[in-house]
This record gives sequence, C-alpha cells and structure tokens, in this order.
Amino acid sequence: MAAGTSSIVLSPLAAPGASQDQPSVIGRVDRTQLAGYGVVLQIYDPMGLQPVVGAKAYYLRIVLHDYSDEKCVEVLKNLRLACAPDSLILIDEMVLRTEDAQTEQTQPGLRMLSYLLAMERDRTQWEDLLSRAGLQLRCIYTYDAETGDSVIAAVSV
Ligand SMILES: C[S@@+](CC[C@H](N)C(=O)[O-])C[C@H]1O[C@@H](n2cnc3c(N)ncnc32)[C@H](O)[C@@H]1O
Repeated sequence: MAAGTSSIVLSPLAAPGASQDQPSVIGRVDRTQLAGYGVVLQIYDPMGLQPVVGAKAYYLRIVLHDYSDEKCVEVLKNLRLACAPDSLILIDEMVLRTEDAQTEQTQPGLRMLSYLLAMERDRTQWEDLLSRAGLQLRCIYTYDAETGDSVIAAVSV
C-alpha cells in the first residue's frame, strides 16, 4: 500500500480488499494509485469491532508494537470475532531474539518503551498475547534476520 495504512483486509466479497486506518491517514491516501486494484479505504479504529467479517486474511503491519499488552489483546480479540474458521491473522512486526540481540533490535525496542510505554516482543511474548486473545500461533516467517522483522501467522481457536 502506498500510504501509512494500518491493515489490509482481503475480502472474499465484492471488493478484494480494504485498507483501514484513522481519518487523518485515510484522508491523505492518493486514490489514483489505488485505481483498478479493487481496494476500498475504510476509517477504522482497531479498538472497535472489525467491520469486515470472514476475510481470508487480516494483515496488521507495525501497529501492535505501539500498544501495551492489554490494548493488543483487545485489538486481537476484535479481529478474532470477525474471523471465519479459515481466516488468517498476519501480524508483521519485529520478533526479538532472546540471545545475542543486535542493536537493530534493541534500539527500536527501547524507543517504543520510552516513547509510548509500548514494546517490541519476542516469540514467547507474541504467543502469550495470541493465546490471551483466543488465537493460536501457526508459524513465524522472519524475512529480515538482522532486525527480526517477521510475519506472524495466527488462527482462531
Ligand atoms: C507505525 S504506523 C504503520 C503504518 C503502516 N502499516 C506501515 O507499515 O507503514 C501505525 C499505523 O497504525 C495506525 N493506527 C494506530 N492506532 C490506530 C487507531 N487506534 N485507529 C486507527 N488507526 C490506528 C496509525 O494511524 C498508523 O498509520
């Protein structure tokens, strides 16, 4: 996506996808870049009920690291309520190494902690959040070994 959208929802319905964020972000999206892709823009606060129900996948990139565990569980529970049995939740975030962490990982982690009282998380912390929201970890694909940037795939249980 071209803009700072918080998630992309791939819907099996008329529109193939929706990109959701707060009004100020949605308002800045260059709609000409979306022409022909079948992506609708939606104003959505992930602390509320997810309006797109039964999507094939719900994708959140660099959103949860802004929030405390309690808020993350709320966001994930809202997504779970929208999930069909075969929906996938894809969380694109850093997964911290628990040993030999490099500055590429520790600096962003400290930044999140000091600015927002939020955090980067390791695998156990992600698993804990998911299970508190009634979700189960399927797999983690780390696409940047240096930073630990990964896609965490989860399903409803
Ligand atoms: C760090 S940015 C990531 C942007 C984009 N996903 C990316 O990967 O570049 C976090 C995004 O989450 C959105 N966001 C965070 N909290 C939100 C909320 N409560 N309601 C709507 N959007 C929210 C912000 O507006 C912002 O666009």
